[in-house]
Amino acid sequence: MKNKLKNLLNKKLTEKELKSVPASFDVVGDLLVFSDFPEELAKKEKIIGRAILKNYPHIKAILKKTKKHSGKFRLPKLKVIAGEKRKETLHKENNVLAKLNAEKAYFSPRMSSERKRIACLIKPNETILVMFSGIGIYPLVISKNTKAKRIIGIEINPIAHKYATENIKINKTANVELILGDARKIMPKLKTQFDRIIMPLPKDAGNFLDLALSKAKKNSTLHFYCFSEENNYQDLKELINKECEKAKKQCEIIGIVKCGQFSPRVYRVCVDFMVS
Ligand SMILES: C[S@@+](CC[C@H](N)C(=O)[O-])C[C@H]1O[C@@H](n2cnc3c(N)ncnc32)[C@H](O)[C@@H]1O
Repeated sequence: MKNKLKNLLNKKLTEKELKSVPASFDVVGDLLVFSDFPEELAKKEKIIGRAILKNYPHIKAILKKTKKHSGKFRLPKLKVIAGEKRKETLHKENNVLAKLNAEKAYFSPRMSSERKRIACLIKPNETILVMFSGIGIYPLVISKNTKAKRIIGIEINPIAHKYATENIKINKTANVELILGDARKIMPKLKTQFDRIIMPLPKDAGNFLDLALSKAKKNSTLHFYCFSEENNYQDLKELINKECEKAKKQCEIIGIVKCGQFSPRVYRVCVDFMVS
């Protein structure tokens, strides 16, 4: 799409402007979101947006990120630069239809293959906890693609939780339960121990390892997301080993999987480990 984008803009932009047309964008439902729209193209943003809309009829609005994901809810700020003035859409991935507002609830379509990878690891009858469930995408992908018995999701952002609740209805799933609140306050009250715990909060998951370990069954698997420099995983392994020692659990790291790039040398990684 990137080359095609340049072709369709070459009569509308100068040579220099064409070079700065951003390479990076996400398609979320019928929205196209530029993550890094250059300041020098601000005056041409409407022209660029309209050209895309004209050539890609399935895209209904073009947005640019004006502030990176931040805060407790991990939310970006977005501006509609062309098309319909809305940030809500219906996104399809891994047999799930998910309704979301791209500015009011965290969602990244770039993680769809990682969600599929996790779903492929799940065995029949597992009881699974998704500690930071957002609009419910992990619980729903698991529910629609595996024979898991029960999936519990916890989310602190009330708007993300509202979408997750609606998404359960849209996808007609019967084995997902969602809880609104802070995982740190909710988890001690849960009576269940889990076969698998998913921790998709790369900025801060280290602070929740003790909680996750307290709810892990013997031989359960944890998926711990964090940011790390490529192939420099020593600190990460030490953190996990230290927390497991504190929780008096044996730990075996099964693998560390790269599942996205955060900055030129920093990646989003998932550490898969088993505890006993
Ligand atoms: C990186 S997002 C991932 C959301 C979702 N799992 C996904 O993949 O789209 C992290 C989510 O954790 C939520 N969160 C942050 N701190 C939390 C806490 N203490 N308890 C529960 N949820 C929390 C945020 O609101 C956000 O929706």
